[in-house]
Amino acid sequence: MARQHKSNPTPQTIRKIRHKLLAWYNINRRELPWRTKGTQTPVPYQVLVSEFMLQQTQVATVIDYFDRFLKHFPTIEALALAPVQQVLLLWQGLGYYRRARNLHAAAKKIVQENHGQIPANLAAIASLPGVGRYTAGAIASIAFEIRAPVLDGNVARVLSRWFAIEEPIDKSTVRSHMWSLAEMLVPEVSPGDFNQAMMELGALVCTPRNPQCSTCPIADLCRARSHGLTNVIPRRSLKRGPQEVMHHVLVVKRGRRFIIEQRPLKGLWAGLWQMPTAEMLNAHVTAKQIQNWALQHLGVIVDLPRPAGNLRHQTTHRSIIAKVWITDVVEGKLHKSRGQWRTLDNLHDLPMSILQQNVVVLIPNSI
Ligand code: ADE
Repeated sequence: MARQHKSNPTPQTIRKIRHKLLAWYNINRRELPWRTKGTQTPVPYQVLVSEFMLQQTQVATVIDYFDRFLKHFPTIEALALAPVQQVLLLWQGLGYYRRARNLHAAAKKIVQENHGQIPANLAAIASLPGVGRYTAGAIASIAFEIRAPVLDGNVARVLSRWFAIEEPIDKSTVRSHMWSLAEMLVPEVSPGDFNQAMMELGALVCTPRNPQCSTCPIADLCRARSHGLTNVIPRRSLKRGPQEVMHHVLVVKRGRRFIIEQRPLKGLWAGLWQMPTAEMLNAHVTAKQIQNWALQHLGVIVDLPRPAGNLRHQTTHRSIIAKVWITDVVEGKLHKSRGQWRTLDNLHDLPMSILQQNVVVLIPNSI
């Protein structure tokens, strides 16, 4: 017989956890726009949209975006028919824009290949663009009551505490152990509620700092609590902090119009629009170098740029300092493939990162 991992729960513990957690969730669940009330059945399209938005983003931030998105695209067909730029505009500010592209691509695939029905099958859901194991489990269990586990940051914290897992939770062997725990725990009946209950407990009670163990339904079964380890579990491997990068943003004007370019379709802020931006690790760049960069990058000759201020922006992996420069075009024609000339009051149809929106706000004070 395979050796049982020391933290594997007994069938009796599993039963108790399921029962106590579901009872707690029935009373404490937050009302969220994509969640059902009472005996309603969930709308799979709404579950799909919410789970894409909730990848990497907290519930509180998602709510307004979700409502607005559903107003514009009430059905999967409406989403599939929309231009991707419109989808990105509704995603503007939520970050991780690849999610919006993937959601759009998933909607198209479902409409084209499955008559607009999200497949009620874990493997088929997992094969959609942008759907990893976690999102597949969430959609399958919440929308279709399929017994599939989930493991996100909240659930990992909850499980590592319940089972006093002291090794770093970002280690791949530990993650796969936690997946198997999640798999053992998720019940046949109400798997979607059970999964959401674990997320909810992580968000409301089993919080990263100062967990509210006195209100936790699992407190008497929690090994971290009985060993006095709630403040040290979960542990993480030592990681590097966010990388410091410098963006040199060049505001190029001609009369009332400004050059605006589209970012590459891969990487940070994929496909969003911006004032021409050079990304470098080196902060010490001269006006002359920026002037040369404009010629190479945009194909236009500009006056010697003048500094117009600095902006800071933090993403999960990057700490960005944006140095904003401003200049006028002297001569040269901007090729269509490099960008467009736009007035500042005519940018509403172009999705931009928050940082670049802040650059636009800064411009009137600098000219
Ligand atoms: N995080 C990801 N999916 C979630 C959900 N359905 N409810 C609450 N938090 C979540």
